[in-house]
Amino acid sequence: MTAPATCRAADGSVYARRPPRAGRLPATHRYRFVTHTAQFGLKAPYPGSRPRRARRHDFARRMVAEHTLSADQLIQPYFVIDGDGTEPVASMPGVSRLGIERLVDSAGRAHALGVPAVVLFPVTRDDVKTDDCSGAWAADGLAQRAIRALKEAHPALGVITDVALDPYSPHGHDGLMDGSGYIVNDETVDALVRQALSHAEAGADIVAPSDMMDGRIGAIREALEAGDHRDVMIMSYAAKYASSFYGPFKKAVGAAAAFGKSDKKSYQMDPANGAEALHEVAADLQEGADMVMVKPGLPYLDIVRRVREAFDVPTFAYHVSGEYAMAKAASSNGWIDERATVLETMMAFRRAGCDGVLTYYATDVARWLKEG
Ligand code: PBG
Repeated sequence: MTAPATCRAADGSVYARRPPRAGRLPATHRYRFVTHTAQFGLKAPYPGSRPRRARRHDFARRMVAEHTLSADQLIQPYFVIDGDGTEPVASMPGVSRLGIERLVDSAGRAHALGVPAVVLFPVTRDDVKTDDCSGAWAADGLAQRAIRALKEAHPALGVITDVALDPYSPHGHDGLMDGSGYIVNDETVDALVRQALSHAEAGADIVAPSDMMDGRIGAIREALEAGDHRDVMIMSYAAKYASSFYGPFKKAVGAAAAFGKSDKKSYQMDPANGAEALHEVAADLQEGADMVMVKPGLPYLDIVRRVREAFDVPTFAYHVSGEYAMAKAASSNGWIDERATVLETMMAFRRAGCDGVLTYYATDVARWLKEG
């Protein structure tokens, strides 16, 4: 069978079998050409093509690498506690809850290694947890004090805050609960707006709503504009799934016991759904999100790729606590090489289309990259 002299693209345009040089085509065409090459076998058959030629030497591998990874793409999450101590998190070896002073020190080290931003999760005392979750917007609350301390010590380090009510509710849900145990949407949105505003007032650079209530991005954006915080960004947890991979986090913030056998399926997304994630992202962008996130990370790279292709906006993924715990468990048993597998994991996020990754490994990865 002879190869056809021309081939037809999906949009009906016809290419000669040897298309013009890729470098002279606009990016979109170039992409289509690459697809063609794979689809129609336009590359010389073996031995004209030997893909291994470009894999033999390090210099060549570097020349043809399609993606890069740097500290710029790493965001370090922190668990913050009252007092000046540190408490190791049993479910996440290598991670500790930090008092504000320790947080400031650790964030300074991350920043010095090139990590652009950190994200804060307060671990609140039981007496701060009330049914109305008003601790969430206390001007001198733990989160608000941590934000101020970080911005004072490291003004150039980006501070991202988690907007959700779970650290402030006795039941550990992200929103307000009605008499039947249902998490109510619109009342929760009002509370989230107050929380986001208090973070902005304390100096947060980016507020990151992780609660999955409908309409919260628009409400928060409107309040930030009205409240003279127009440059505060919103990183929306746009596609956040009801995932079992958050288990170690719930233990880290002390929510596991209160939460019991409950779940967040009435507001977080069903892992069975993909198209719905695109609708969530579209809604959040239209409501004023500056950047969007997919969470968890590795099991949802297909969603990252779809979001990247559909919207091409700043796209992040959260390599969550369960993913971290799995990597730690396997590597501490000597079953996998921690550094190699984590670096490969981070590159996988990049290849899928992430601009950045929230990961408990951020500072480690930044150090590994520096060590080379
Ligand atoms: C709660 C919140 C969770 C995480 C970040 N914010 C837990 C949840 O939704 O149950 C999970 C992060 C992780 O597992 O690393 N608003």
